[in-house]
Amino acid sequence: MNTDPTQQTPTGWWTEAAIYQIYPRSFADSDGDGVGDLPGITARLDHLVELGVDAVWLSPFYPSPQADAGYDVADYRNVDPLFGTLADADKLLTEARSRGLRVIVDLVPNHTSSAHRWFQEALAASPGSLPRSRYIFRDGLGPAGDQPPNDWQSVFGGPAWTRTVDPDGQPGQWYLHLFDTGQPDLNWDNPEVHEEFLDVLRFWLDRGVDGFRVDVAHGLIKQANLPDWQEPQEILSGNEIDKPRPPMWDQEGVHEIYRQWRQVLDSYPGERVLVAEAWVEPAERLARYVRPDEMHQAFNFEYLLAAWTAPAQYAVITRSLEATDSVGAPTTWVLSNHDVVRHASRLGLAIGGGRPNGIGIGDPQPDAALGLRRARAATLLMLALPGSAYLYQGEELGLPEHTTMPDEARQDPTWARSGHTQRGRDGCRVPIPWEADAPSYGFGPTDASWLPQPPSWAEYALDRQRDVPGSTYELYREALRLRRAHGLGRGTLEWLSSDDETLVFRNGELTVLTNFGDAPVPLPPNAEVLATSAPLTGIAIPTDVTVWLRS
Ligand code: NOJ
Repeated sequence: MNTDPTQQTPTGWWTEAAIYQIYPRSFADSDGDGVGDLPGITARLDHLVELGVDAVWLSPFYPSPQADAGYDVADYRNVDPLFGTLADADKLLTEARSRGLRVIVDLVPNHTSSAHRWFQEALAASPGSLPRSRYIFRDGLGPAGDQPPNDWQSVFGGPAWTRTVDPDGQPGQWYLHLFDTGQPDLNWDNPEVHEEFLDVLRFWLDRGVDGFRVDVAHGLIKQANLPDWQEPQEILSGNEIDKPRPPMWDQEGVHEIYRQWRQVLDSYPGERVLVAEAWVEPAERLARYVRPDEMHQAFNFEYLLAAWTAPAQYAVITRSLEATDSVGAPTTWVLSNHDVVRHASRLGLAIGGGRPNGIGIGDPQPDAALGLRRARAATLLMLALPGSAYLYQGEELGLPEHTTMPDEARQDPTWARSGHTQRGRDGCRVPIPWEADAPSYGFGPTDASWLPQPPSWAEYALDRQRDVPGSTYELYREALRLRRAHGLGRGTLEWLSSDDETLVFRNGELTVLTNFGDAPVPLPPNAEVLATSAPLTGIAIPTDVTVWLRS
């Protein structure tokens, strides 16, 4: 018998699941205040059953000043009144379970909110005190201490340090925040921080959650002495293998933390999972987060970022599978989330033209029709791959990014902190349309919407697509149905061919072909078409189309 865990195929539900990301602010608003909430989600759970996903991941709903849309947590064991109550969270979990849907919640361990009790205690305490040791406080440089302790930049722009004011009104120490000033980084060298998060894990596991998506999983441990690092930060760029590793990301010490967490999860019944949000490249480095005694999964951002060409897609798929196979973990796939330009718009930009951090008025605009065509092909390709797939709310409607949002409406701290050079992530976070003719397109009972919805969104509303042959919604539904029926998530990929224009692989009894080239590709003889991302022209597969075939 083979006892090496890396040589065994993992079998839990997550290994082949389709997991739907809900961004609570923008999914469904039950009370008409313009911000989505937990009762809104519960009322729409049947949509997810109809769509055919296995699980949901909820972005944060905890008490928070919302300096970073809830990724600034003031209390890890409660619900912000904006989103409801703990009783609403319990109801959501119960209702999801009764429909066979698993629920993963977001855990934000790299930083708290500056409104968190611990940080407020730290501000009131003196340098070197116990409350300060829960965060990363340092004296400033220079005779007056008015220079930041090092040159690190915040991911959202500007310095990663903010100077505090002492209780007597004099300028004090500086604290580190890799993100917004409202998100002070915790000091994971302090055992009390470890204890606290073990307890937070248990709090939600006891309430019945199926797992955690771990925010900034690669950031918790910083290199000792916090050495200077001249490079600007980019949330979208990982660490290339031939470059030195930045002192704030992907340090060895993070792995011990997840080993401990894994033991906690394993002590609960029912296959609870940890999912790493770690912007770490290359795939071999990322695979270290999903070794047998660490997390279960990691988001595959290298896949999300890969160019829409046959060679780039072939390379990233192959590399991803090899890397996760080497540690015995399932691969994951993702095309959109709340931090990146939606793939229906991203793929409508020129190939190789860079990756904008948001798109606004005056920026080069994506080709909407081309973007949607490619997005549908990309999704059909993704859903045929073995492993689990993450979907972001609204992509099942083919929703584009809001690329003409007035800048005054923007709320992402990136826009202000970058000195209005990076528009940031609001364009992918706009409340989603359910009913074309209802106020706020059915997002809530009123017209209120915390970010403006473009008028063109009526055509994307769910009620305009349901039961409409060829709609993006019906394409997702059918693909998810077939994916489950054919066990694609637990299948094996076998490349049949790949060149500059086409990719062809087999997974079980399905053959999957994507045409990236300019010319149509003939359908293989005797092939039965089970799904296609766009209508075929006679017996040819046109450009930017994926087909699922049975022969
Ligand atoms: C990653 C989250 O996805 C993003 O939305 C957030 O701004 C940062 N982590 C900081 O928590």
